[in-house]
Amino acid sequence: MATKPLIKALTEAGIGSRRRMTDAIKQGKVKVNGAAAESFNHLVDLAKDHIQLNGQDVSLQPDTVICLLLNKPVGVVSTTSDEKGRGTVLSILPDNYRRHRLYPVGRLDIDTTGLLLLTNDGALTYRLTHPKFEYEKEYLVAIKSKMTIQEIQQLQRGVPLEDGMSYPAKIREISQPPFNYSVIIHEGKKRQVRRMFEYLRYHVTALKRIRLGNLTLGNLKEGEVRRLTTKEISALLR
Ligand code: URA
Repeated sequence: MATKPLIKALTEAGIGSRRRMTDAIKQGKVKVNGAAAESFNHLVDLAKDHIQLNGQDVSLQPDTVICLLLNKPVGVVSTTSDEKGRGTVLSILPDNYRRHRLYPVGRLDIDTTGLLLLTNDGALTYRLTHPKFEYEKEYLVAIKSKMTIQEIQQLQRGVPLEDGMSYPAKIREISQPPFNYSVIIHEGKKRQVRRMFEYLRYHVTALKRIRLGNLTLGNLKEGEVRRLTTKEISALLR
């Protein structure tokens, strides 16, 4: 028997924020098996109890696990909401994904483009973001000039950042305008790639993530999204 407190079950059902659900319970708008719910912590059985909000049935079955691969465009923030009113990665998703409580796995800066995963699954997020699992992340970097061999080697060995040394990275010169370097790291410090280059006084003019582990952007255009298959998710977790 899968039971959980009413407020938790309602919030996880993805029909509204915790605040909204709390208000609905207080206002007697939530019914459990026909009677107005009196307690937020009333334990409900996900399989058996009949819950209604404003007279409408609420399905308490856990959300299907969804993992989306987005090619993030410039100008949207990698958060679920933004106090400055900027567009978020959620606001650019097609309507059919809106009802799932998705959130980004890690972050890309507002000016960074490329591969960003969004999911509703906490275990998947933990696995993909915990440093001990060491997922490689590959970025294409554009800077205005060419680095010397010594500078490349410095970045490869690791450079001091205000929150500690960067771990060894793989750096390769490429020619994919506007990008001129490929950088592979497996850390996710805030603005890490930009700060690594800033340490050597290079300003990154464009940054794009093209790979996470074995997942690549493929032909996905900026702003486009696709759902990962179960097979792709399993391969990612292997
Ligand atoms: N490193 C950065 O500097 N920015 C990103 O968005 C991702 C990695």
